[in-house]
Amino acid sequence: MFQKHIAGKERQLPPPKHIAIIMDGNGRWAKKRGLPRQSGHAVGSEVFRKIATYCRDIGMDYLTVYAFSTENWKRSEEEVSAIMGLLKKYLLESIDEMAADHIKLHFFGDLSRLKPELLELIARTNAISDTYDGFQVNVCLNYGGRDEIVRAARAFAGKCANGEAKPEDLSEDVFSDLLYSAGIPDPDLIIRPGGEFRTSNFLLWQSAYSEYYFTDVLWPDFTPHELEKAISAYQHRNRRFGGAKP
Ligand code: FPP
Repeated sequence: MFQKHIAGKERQLPPPKHIAIIMDGNGRWAKKRGLPRQSGHAVGSEVFRKIATYCRDIGMDYLTVYAFSTENWKRSEEEVSAIMGLLKKYLLESIDEMAADHIKLHFFGDLSRLKPELLELIARTNAISDTYDGFQVNVCLNYGGRDEIVRAARAFAGKCANGEAKPEDLSEDVFSDLLYSAGIPDPDLIIRPGGEFRTSNFLLWQSAYSEYYFTDVLWPDFTPHELEKAISAYQHRNRRFGGAKP
């Protein structure tokens, strides 16, 4: 569909509609400045707010961010509670500003391990978000790609066990609808700042044909300009979804 060269002119992809970001490098950013890791997360959460607003303003449909993984509980209690505190602060501020901002919030992950006060805020933001259409931010919280797939498999097995479905009913579409991302198109572009080249258990199913963009810039230093660089790199890619080269 998207040929790179048409009549000698380079053909660009349209801008991505769904970008996902692994917000990495907060700890190193803080360490470089002799600050506690939590300070990196605090600056990182402000950068997240700025980037989300920018994504809305340039007409994207979805932004998905990795805020806390199923593995992040291994960090010190101090760091975990600092991240949870930042999430709480962000949600409280979002509830106040949602009417003006019109940013829908949605959550991917096993939320059952979160504290009741955070769950209550999530329920409130969900209720407000349900009344909006338009740009949506998916916050991955206690999220793991493998865990998500196992849960979906378990849910389908349950349907088979109680006679609601048969094994042969399972297709990629049926499976996708059992994931946290049900109904949401796969990310076109996944950005990983922070200089690491890993997926770190992020959107394993949904990233099958996503384009990746890696940069050494640490997340607290990430700017709309860096995002534009990633988008521009994406637009020069040749997405074939398994098809032949034109
Ligand atoms: C990865 O950097 C970052 C995290 C595990 C936490 C991300 C959390 C936030 C940006 C704050 C809360 C989020 C929202 C949505 C308000 P790292 O700590 O692994 O960095 P390092 O690799 O340099 O140590």
